[in-house]
Amino acid sequence: MTLNPWLDMLNLINGFQVTQAIRVASTLRIADHLKDGARSAEKLASLTESNADALYRLLRALAGVGIFREGPDRTFALTPMGDCLRTNSATPIGGWAEHVGNTAYWQAWGHLLHSVRTGGNAFRDLHGEDVWEYRAKHPEANAIFNRAMTDMSRGGGEAIVKAYDFSSFRHVVDVGGGQGTLLAVILRACPRARGTLFDQPQVIAGAKTQLQAHGVADRCEVIGGSFFDAVPEGGDVYVMRHIIHDWEDDEATAILKSCRRAMIKSAKLLLVERTVAPPNQLPGKFSDLNMLVAPGGRERTSEEYAALFEKSGFELTRVLPAGGFNVVEARPC
Ligand SMILES: C[S@@+](CC[C@H](N)C(=O)[O-])C[C@H]1O[C@@H](n2cnc3c(N)ncnc32)[C@H](O)[C@@H]1O
Repeated sequence: MTLNPWLDMLNLINGFQVTQAIRVASTLRIADHLKDGARSAEKLASLTESNADALYRLLRALAGVGIFREGPDRTFALTPMGDCLRTNSATPIGGWAEHVGNTAYWQAWGHLLHSVRTGGNAFRDLHGEDVWEYRAKHPEANAIFNRAMTDMSRGGGEAIVKAYDFSSFRHVVDVGGGQGTLLAVILRACPRARGTLFDQPQVIAGAKTQLQAHGVADRCEVIGGSFFDAVPEGGDVYVMRHIIHDWEDDEATAILKSCRRAMIKSAKLLLVERTVAPPNQLPGKFSDLNMLVAPGGRERTSEEYAALFEKSGFELTRVLPAGGFNVVEARPC
C-alpha cells in the first residue's frame, strides 16, 4: 500500500494483469528454464517459442512484483516466489495460476455481477453446467484443475502433517482426495498407516502415477465413485480437504452424512478449509467469492461448521491452524 488511496485503488483494480502474466509465465515453464541460473529474454524466447520482445516485457513486469529478478542485458533469474512456479518446486503453485487464468474459469469471474445480483452460480449460468460436469466433458480443463489441486496439496500438505498428529491412525481415507498428493504426504509421515483415496472416476484415473511417484502406492487403495452415494468404510480417520467449501449447506450436509454412515464411532473427521476471519480481516473472504462464482459453495466460520456437523451426526472438537488453512476436527456423536 502507498499513502495515496487513488493509487492503491488503481493497483487493486489492475490485479487481473498480474494474474494473467503469472499464468502465462507458468504455462511457458519459464521458471523451469531458470532453475540452473539466469538467462536472457532472447534465450528464454527461443526455448519457449515466444516473441523475444513481448516475453521481455512480460518478465520485466513480473520482476516488478518480485517474481523474477532482472539483471543486465535483459537477463532474468528466479526469486523465492518465482521458484514456486517450477514444476518440481517443493512448494509449487504454477498449476493454480494456470487454472485460475484458464478461459472458462476466467470468464466465470467476469460474470461475478450475476452471482451478486442473483445469489446464483456464475459458472453454471455462463457455461450451462456446473464445474464438475464441465470438467468431466473437457479433459484439458480437468487436467489443469487436477494439476492445480496437486500443487495446492503438495504446498499445503506438509503444513497439515505438522499441525495435526496422524501417528495414532492406521487407515486414512481421503474423500475427494484428487490425485492423492495430500494422502501421500500423510502416509509418508505415518509409515505404518495405509490409505484409501476416493474421488470421481475421471479424477482418480491419474492417481496411481502420483502415488507411485511418492512411494506409497503399495499402501494405498484407489476407489472411484460419488460421495453423494457412499464413501469407503473402514478408516479410522476421514480427511476432506477443500471439499465442503465447494457446496451449499444441503449438499455439504449430504456429503457429511455419507461420511458418517461409513465411519465407526471412534473414527475422526478432519476438514481442511479456510475458516472465514472476523470482520475487516481478509482470510477466507475472496476464496468465499471464488466458491460463489465457480463451484457454487461457500467458505464458513467455525460456528457454521459446528452447525453443519450438528445436522450430520458429528460434533466439532477443535480447529487448528495449518499454514494459512485450518484443520477442523469432528467426531461422530
Ligand atoms: C477442490 S477439489 C479438492 C481436491 C483435494 N482434496 C485437494 O485438496 O487437492 C474437490 C474434489 O472433489 C471431487 N469431487 C467433486 N464431486 C465429487 C463427487 N460427487 N464424489 C467424489 N468426489 C467429488 C473433485 O473431483 C475434486 O477432486
